[in-house]
Amino acid sequence: MKVAVLLLLSFLIVTNLVSGEEIKIKKGEFITIAHRGASAYAPEHTMQSYNLAKEMNADYLEIDVQMTKDGIPVAYHDDKLNKKTGWTGEIEKYTLEEIKQIDIGKWFGTDFEGAEILTLAEIFDRFGTNTNYYIETKKPKQGTEEAIFDLLVKYQLNLFNGQVIIQSFSESSLLTMKKLNDNIPLIKLLNSESATNLTDHKLKEIESYADGIGVDYRVVDKDFVEKAHGNNLLVHAYTVNEINSMKRMLTFNVDGIFTNKPDVLLKLSSSN
Ligand code: G3P
Ligand code: CA
Repeated sequence: MKVAVLLLLSFLIVTNLVSGEEIKIKKGEFITIAHRGASAYAPEHTMQSYNLAKEMNADYLEIDVQMTKDGIPVAYHDDKLNKKTGWTGEIEKYTLEEIKQIDIGKWFGTDFEGAEILTLAEIFDRFGTNTNYYIETKKPKQGTEEAIFDLLVKYQLNLFNGQVIIQSFSESSLLTMKKLNDNIPLIKLLNSESATNLTDHKLKEIESYADGIGVDYRVVDKDFVEKAHGNNLLVHAYTVNEINSMKRMLTFNVDGIFTNKPDVLLKLSSSN
C-alpha cells in the first residue's frame, strides 16, 4: 500500500499535478547546445554524435523529432528522408520497423556505416537522467507532443529544473506542450525573416507562453538581444560553427548557442 502511495505521489509530482513550483532555465547561465549531437564529427542524430557531445560535456543534446507511421517519435531533421540515405519519401509514411533499415551513417564515412535512426526512447535509454535534452517538435502532427511528453514522464526526466527544453517553430505545438505541463521551458524558434521583422507586440505575445527565442545567429546583434531580454526572453542562437561568429554571439550576451562543435564553443565560453 505504502509503495502504491509513493508511486502515485512521484507520478503526480513529475506530471506537475501537485506542485506549483516554477522552474525556468537558469537566467544568466550560458548553455552550449549540441546541435543534433556533436554533428561536425559524426553523422547527425546518431548515437555516435550524441556520445561525442556528452563526452565533450555539452550542456544539452539537441534532438529534432519526427513521427513514424506507427506513431513513434524518432530523431531526424527533415520530414522527408535525406537522399544520402538512398531512401525517399516522408518519414511519416514508414513504420519504425522500416525506418530501422535505413543507414544514416555511411554517407558521413565508413566508420559510421550501419548507424540507425534512433527513437527518442533509445536516446533516453542511453543517457537517462544524466543529461539535458533540447527537443524540437519538427513538423508536429496530432499526438506528437503527447507522445514526447509520455516519454519524458516514463523516463522520469525532471520537468522542474530545465533538464528538458522544448523548442518549435510552431506556436501551436508549444502551446499544446504547455497545456501538458506548464513547467517545461519553451523556446519559440524564429527564422531570419521573422526575427528581422519582430515587433514589440510579437515579442510580448511570445513572452506570454515561452521562456525564450531561438534565432538564426545571422540576424542577431546586441540590440536584438537587449530587446529580447527587456521582454524577459532568453536568446539562443542557431547554428554557430565558426569561432569568430561564436565570439560575436558571446559579446552580444546571448544565453545559449546551438553548435555542431560543442568542444570549440565550450573552450571559448569557459575562457570568456
Ligand atoms: O533548433 C534550432 C535549430 O536547430 C533550428 O534549425 O533546421 O537545424 O532544426 P534546424
Ligand atoms: Ca533543430
